[in-house]
Amino acid sequence: MRPLIVIGNWKMNGSLASNASWFKSVCRGMEQGMPAGRKYAVCVPTPYLAQCSQLIQDHSPAFLSLGAQDVSAFSVGAYTGEVAASMLRELDCTYVIVGHSERRQYHRETDEQVAEKALQVLDNGMTPVICVGESADERNSGREVEVVRGQISKQVAVLQDRLADCLIAYEPIWAIGTGKVASAQMAQDMHHAIRLQLAEFDEDVASHVGILYGGSVKPDNAVELFAMPDIDGGLIGGASLNPQDFLAICQA
Ligand code: PGA
Repeated sequence: MRPLIVIGNWKMNGSLASNASWFKSVCRGMEQGMPAGRKYAVCVPTPYLAQCSQLIQDHSPAFLSLGAQDVSAFSVGAYTGEVAASMLRELDCTYVIVGHSERRQYHRETDEQVAEKALQVLDNGMTPVICVGESADERNSGREVEVVRGQISKQVAVLQDRLADCLIAYEPIWAIGTGKVASAQMAQDMHHAIRLQLAEFDEDVASHVGILYGGSVKPDNAVELFAMPDIDGGLIGGASLNPQDFLAICQA
C-alpha cells in the first residue's frame, strides 16, 4: 500500500521571519492530529534549509520532513553556484525535487540531466521527486501522453529499478500557478498511463512508485484528486505558502 504524500514547494518565497511563523502554525496544526499513514514535507529555498531543519526539530519532528527544490548533477568539485546532494543530506533533507518545469524552462534542463540529479539524490539516501508534464500546446494537440511517456522513458533508461525509490510528480505545465487545475479524472488518466508504462518495465516498480499530482492544488480540489486510485498525493506550490491552506490539503 502506497502512503499518501503531500509535499509543499515554496519556490523562491520566504524570509527568516515568515519561515519561523509558517512552521509555528503548521506544526501546531499538525499536533492537533493528522490522518494516519500519510507523509508530509516542505521543500524550501536552499539558504533556508538549516533554519527550517532547526524549526522542524524545535516544533514537531514526527510529522514534517524537509526537502530541497533542486540539486547538482555532480557530486563535488568546480561547479560554482551548485549545491551537492551530500550537502542537502547534511541539512536533513529527505526529499529533493528534480526537473521541475520551471528548471526545465528557465535553465534548459534536459531529461538526461534530471536523471543524473535523481541518481545523486538516491546515492545520498534521499528521495528524488521527479517532475514530468506537458505544455498547453502539447495537450491541445493531443500529444500529452506521448510527451510524458518520452520524459518517463529517459528516467527508466538511467534509473532502472531504482525508480522504485523515487517519487514522480505529474505537473501539467498549463496548470502550474494558473488556477487551472486538471480535473481529477484527467489527472488520474495520466497517472494511470504512467503506471502502465512503468509496468511495461517492471511490475514491482510500477506498484511501489508514488505518483503525486501538482498544479493549482487547493484545499477545495485536493479531496477529489487524492481519492483517485493512482494519485498518491500532491506537490503543492502557491497553496503551500499559506499555513492554513497547506494544513487543509494535508488533511484532505
Ligand atoms: P502550484 O505549483 O501549486 O502553484 O500550481 C505547483 C508546482 O509547481 O509544484
